Formats: sequence, C-alpha cells, structure tokens
Amino acid sequence: MKTMHLSAILVGLSSLVSAGTFPNAPHVFAYPKDPGNFQPAHPDRPHGRVCKVTPDATDSGPAILAAAHKCNRGGTVFLPPGDFVIATALDLTFLEDVDFAIWGNITFKQDLELWPTQAFQYSYQSASMFWRFGGTNVNIYGDGKGVIDGAGQFWWSAMAKNSSVMRPCLLGTDGLHHATVTGLTMLNPPGWFNLISNSTNVLVSDMTMLVGSQLTGAPAKNTDGWDIYRSSNIVIQNSKIVNTDDCVSFKPNSTQVVVQGLDCTGSHGISVGSLGQYQDETDLVEDLYIYNISMTNAGDFARIKVWPGVPPNVTGSTTGGGLGLVRNVTYENLYSVNNDHVISVSQCYYAKNQSVCNEYPSKLVIEDILFKSFAGTTSKKYDPQIGDLTCSSPDVCHNIELVGINVTPPSGKSPVFNCVNMQGSNLGNITCA
Ligand SMILES: *[C@@H]1O[C@H](CO)[C@@H](O)[C@H](O)[C@H]1NC(C)=O
Ligand SMILES: *[C@@H]1O[C@H](CO)[C@@H](O)[C@H](O)[C@H]1NC(C)=O
Ligand SMILES: *[C@@H]1O[C@H](CO)[C@@H](O)[C@H](O)[C@H]1NC(C)=O
Ligand SMILES: *[C@@H]1O[C@H](CO)[C@@H](O)[C@H](O)[C@H]1NC(C)=O
Ligand SMILES: *[C@@H]1O[C@H](CO)[C@@H](O)[C@H](O)[C@H]1NC(C)=O
Ligand SMILES: *[C@@H]1O[C@H](CO)[C@@H](O)[C@H](O)[C@H]1NC(C)=O
Ligand SMILES: *[C@@H]1O[C@H](CO)[C@@H](O)[C@H](O)[C@H]1NC(C)=O
Ligand SMILES: *[C@@H]1O[C@H](CO)[C@@H](O)[C@H](O)[C@H]1NC(C)=O
Ligand SMILES: *[C@@H]1O[C@H](CO)[C@@H](O)[C@H](O)[C@H]1NC(C)=O
Repeated sequence: MKTMHLSAILVGLSSLVSAGTFPNAPHVFAYPKDPGNFQPAHPDRPHGRVCKVTPDATDSGPAILAAAHKCNRGGTVFLPPGDFVIATALDLTFLEDVDFAIWGNITFKQDLELWPTQAFQYSYQSASMFWRFGGTNVNIYGDGKGVIDGAGQFWWSAMAKNSSVMRPCLLGTDGLHHATVTGLTMLNPPGWFNLISNSTNVLVSDMTMLVGSQLTGAPAKNTDGWDIYRSSNIVIQNSKIVNTDDCVSFKPNSTQVVVQGLDCTGSHGISVGSLGQYQDETDLVEDLYIYNISMTNAGDFARIKVWPGVPPNVTGSTTGGGLGLVRNVTYENLYSVNNDHVISVSQCYYAKNQSVCNEYPSKLVIEDILFKSFAGTTSKKYDPQIGDLTCSSPDVCHNIELVGINVTPPSGKSPVFNCVNMQGSNLGNITCA
C-alpha cells in the first residue's frame, strides 16, 4: 500500500524543468509604509531547481507535498495552469528557502466527512485549515494567474442545515517567517479567506479576493479577508476584496502591522477585535498603521470592538472580562462610500446596555488611537450619525483623537457621532449627539 502510494506521488511529479522556464518570485516591497525593520523573503531562487507538479483533479495533495520536500532549501514548486484538486490536508510547516509559483486553479474536495478527519484544527474561534504554510524564507505567488477557489456555496449550503459544519480557511500560515504572498486570486472561501498566525515578517500584496453570488437562504458566512493572530511585522497591501465579513481583522496579539492600499467592498470593515472576550486572558493589539483604504457598502469602516468587564463574582466568563491593551493604532487617509458608520469604537461589545457596561468597565484598555483624514459618504442607515464612540469608562479609554473627518451623510445634514465616556479623548471638531 505504502509503496503504491509513493509511486503515485512520483508519477505526479515530473522531473526538474529546465532553467528559465519557471516564473521567478516578483520583487515586491512594502510601500509606502512599512513597520520598520521589515524583512519579508528574499526573491530569486537559484535556477535549475524547479519541481513542477502535474495537475490532478482527483487529489494533488500528495504530489504537492512531495514537491515541497524535494524542492525545499533552494527550489521552486511550480503548479502550472490546470486544475489541482486537494483531498489530503497539507502540512507545509517545514519550509525553508522555497518558493511556490501557483499558476493553476486550486480547489479542495467538496466533502463534509473528509475534512474533519484531515484539516488542521485550532481552538481559537474553531479555526481550521486545508493546508498550512510555516517555516522561513518562502514566497508564494500567483502572478495574477493562480486561483484558489473555495467553492464556498457547497459549505454555506451545508452550514444552513448544520451550523457546526467545519469550514476551513482558504490559506493559513502557522509559524511562517520572512515570507511573501502575492498575485493570487482567491474565490468563495468556506470560512475565512486567510488566517495569518504565529507568523512574522510576512508581506501580502496584489491579491484579488471575491465572494460571488450566493443562494438565498444559504448566504456566505464568516468570509473575513485576513485574520491576523499572534503575529507581528505583517504588511497587507494593494489588494481588492469583495466579501461579507471583516476585510481585515486584528485578533489577539497582532502587533506592528501595516495595512495599505486596499479596496474593500461589502465587508464589516477593518476591525480590531473583538478582544477581551475571555476572562483573565491578555490580548495585545499594538502599533497598527491602516493607510489609504477605500471601503464601499460596509457596515463599519474603521472599527475597534472590545468586550466589557464582568461582575466580581463571575469566573470563567466567555463574554468579557479579558485583560490587555489596544494601543497606538492609526487609521489615516480613508475613503468611504456608502458605509453605515465610518468610525466605530465600542468597549461595550454585546453589553446588555450602557449602565451594565459602565458598572463593570472593560479591563482591556484602549489608548493612543488616531483617526485622521477621512473623506466620502455614509449610507442612510444612521443618517446624520456617521460614527459611534462608546467606551465603558474614561479611565480605561483615553487619547482617542479624531482629525479631519470630512464625511457627509446622504441627507447632507451636519454629521454627528454617538459619544459615551469620551472625556479622556480629543474628538476635534466633530459633533457628539
Ligand atoms: C477551478 O476548478 C474548479 C473545479 O475544477 C472549477 O469548478 C472552477 O470553475 C475553476 N475556477 C477557475 C477560476 O478556473
Ligand atoms: C453537524 O456537523 C458536525 C461537525 O461536522 C457533526 O459532528 C454533527 O454530527 C452534524 N450534525 C448533524 C445533525 O448532521
Ligand atoms: C500557534 O502556536 C501555539 C504555541 O505553539 C500553538 O499552540 C498554536 O496551535 C499555534 N497556532 C495557532 C493558530 O494558534
Ligand atoms: C498574548 O500576549 C500576552 C502577553 O505576552 C500573553 O499573556 C497571552 O497569552 C498572549 N495570547 C495569545 C493568544 O497568544
Ligand atoms: C492608494 O491605494 C490605491 C489602491 O487602492 C493605489 O492605487 C494608490 O496608489 C494608493 N495611494 C497612495 C498614496 O499610496
Ligand atoms: C506606533 O505604531 C507605528 C506603526 O507600527 C510605529 O511606526 C510607531 O513607532 C509606533 N509608535 C509608538 C509610540 O510606539
Ligand atoms: C453576582 O452578583 C450580582 C450582584 O450582586 C448578582 O446580581 C448576580 O446574580 C451574581 N451572579 C452570580 C453568578 O452569582
Ligand atoms: C440594563 O440591564 C440590566 C440587566 O439586564 C437591567 O437590570 C437594567 O434594568 C437595564 N438598565 C436599563 C437602563 O435598561
Ligand atoms: C473639521 O475639520 C476638517 C479639517 O480638519 C474639515 O474638513 C471639516 O469640514 C471640519 N468639520 C466641521 C464640522 O467643521
């Protein structure tokens, strides 16, 4: 059995292709901002070590894994145009100095029984991955040709019948350091598009991510663009996203992240959190720069969501009571088209009401937040209100600054914000009502 399996793999792996016929990793840089001392992968593998994988519409998984082992330490795994169906979870966390040139169309077998036995599962928000990338000095690139197609409707329809169906994210990193992910088209993820976890120095650029039409009664769910978790020195830039949940979400322990040049449509915004959900756990989100983003038809645009505290006699809460900090976050040069709120800060996430939130303020501090140079319009949903700033106490929420918020609601009325417990902040010339 084992031998047959291995020979099947070898058939799927053609011999090294000649030098010069494979695509080099593109030279991409974090631009115009970067987190400082940022070191994504070095491009240009030595020529001559290319492992070309033959498309296999039954299961390309073993051949891709074999190619990754064979070309690890200096080579390029090349997936040429063609259909690659993956039916075996791929643990690619051993990578070292290797590139993945993806010019084909990658899909994952549509099988509800298979993936719970195969996929990599995490306790954090029940996240799971079909394949995971980890290691050092890795470029993953699609050159505008490669497609990762999640066939989301299959999973969303299953979810409409059974809400606990496992829906892995389309691309996951776990322990990936010094890497680039560029030029890929990603379509209809079962769950999140991307989870970047336990990773550092990763540059993501020139991606196109689309959630297409959905069946009535089985809509797309949780299709976050990028979730960043336990990671630092990450740059996400120059990409277009059409989805139905957060465009980018900063989960616990996302630090030193730059997000720039995105065009997001239909999402829930660029969101910090939610944080502080689990009592006594510490969540840190610090040093974020969100720059030059265009957002259309979203619920919120720039968003920070933090759970409140819990009464002193409560233990083990999963609805607030967490510790930590959201600090040094800048949202600058944001352009809004028809979003319900352009700015939404809540430190009373899911609190029953404001008095309960005031009584047990959050233990997760929000400080040094700058919202600067916003332009455009909101939707009519809350007109003339364009934003919401709700803290649980000025003691744990201070130095939030708003400058140059030049956004108009559709009625043309003077815009207003809802403001609660904002005494420790500088709201500039906005009107609180
Ligand atoms: C990718 O392959 C799947 C399965 O073969 C197919 O349904 C889908 O249309 C292809 N997508 C693209 C963009 O070629
Ligand atoms: C729902 O999906 C979960 C996760 O796959 C599974 O354990 C459970 O048996 C399913 N429930 C039903 C009623 O099919
Ligand atoms: C990240 O690293 C931790 C500690 O090694 C591990 O427990 C966890 O499974 C990893 N991945 C994620 C997504 O948390
Ligand atoms: C986040 O960092 C804090 C401080 O180092 C640590 O206590 C906490 O366990 C980390 N959380 C996660 C999810 O890794
Ligand atoms: C802003 O982002 C767009 C892409 O959404 C890009 O075309 C443009 O060059 C960027 N502008 C600046 C000043 O970086
Ligand atoms: C705030 O974060 C930005 C972006 O990561 C960083 O450049 C800057 O040094 C940080 N400032 C402070 C005071 O930590
Ligand atoms: C905790 O104390 C509050 C106020 O005294 C009370 O309303 C609540 O029922 C108590 N909760 C528990 C779980 O004992
Ligand atoms: C807020 O909710 C608490 C708990 O359900 C309730 O006791 C209180 O009356 C509510 N306060 C207001 C102002 O609605
Ligand atoms: C607030 O100041 C900005 C410039 O900093 C200006 O564009 C905007 O019109 C001002 N808004 C009000 C209501 O005065």
